[in-house]
Amino acid sequence: MTGRFITLEGGEGAGKSTQIRLLADWLRAQGIAVETTREPGGSPGAEEIRALLVTGTPGRWQPMTEALLLNAARHQHLAETVRPALAAGRWVLCDRYADSTFAYQGAGHGLDPDLLRDLHRAATGGLVPDLTLLLDIDPEIGLARAGARAGNETRYEQMALAFHRRLRDGYRRIAEAEPQRVAVIDAARGVDAIQADLRAVLSDRLRPGR
Ligand code: TMP
Repeated sequence: MTGRFITLEGGEGAGKSTQIRLLADWLRAQGIAVETTREPGGSPGAEEIRALLVTGTPGRWQPMTEALLLNAARHQHLAETVRPALAAGRWVLCDRYADSTFAYQGAGHGLDPDLLRDLHRAATGGLVPDLTLLLDIDPEIGLARAGARAGNETRYEQMALAFHRRLRDGYRRIAEAEPQRVAVIDAARGVDAIQADLRAVLSDRLRPGR
């Protein structure tokens, strides 16, 4: 039996990585084999491409160059990590996937969504997640949280607030257009409240353990 492909999405500082870890623990406790991964990255070659994308100055890449690099990394990640795990029956929890490209490079940077859809088809064969959990947060709150975390992967965090507002709107439009796939979670709350909602959505829509 093939596994399930679940993606977490959201702007900066939404808390995706903490929530993925907790969700994975919960699913494993129910006897489900789970793999956690991330984009850009998630396989050796894709992690090398990630380093190009998340470091350096905000204006380092043309938006189209970013979209191509992201899709190149995604193709490699699917081949090396995601598809083998799903084929082996494991559930894959992925921190970001194609919706990030529609939100950041589309809504944020203004690339044509039809062009992004073409790239998506070429890079992934049109692979769509079984479920997407959108952690929605006001970018001002999210960026403050992300800033506290620091590190050197700050290229996108340095982009203007207006950029982050556009990408939040972009995510919300995706959720409105595809409510069966995308569940919106209010991420301006504490870790436990968010996790409880995520588990409720998963139980309702994917029925783990049954
Ligand atoms: P992370 O900080 O959530 O690990 O993500 C790395 C950065 O990459 C984040 O600032 C968003 C950005 N990104 C895009 O712009 N487009 C994409 O398609 C993906 C997957 C990430």
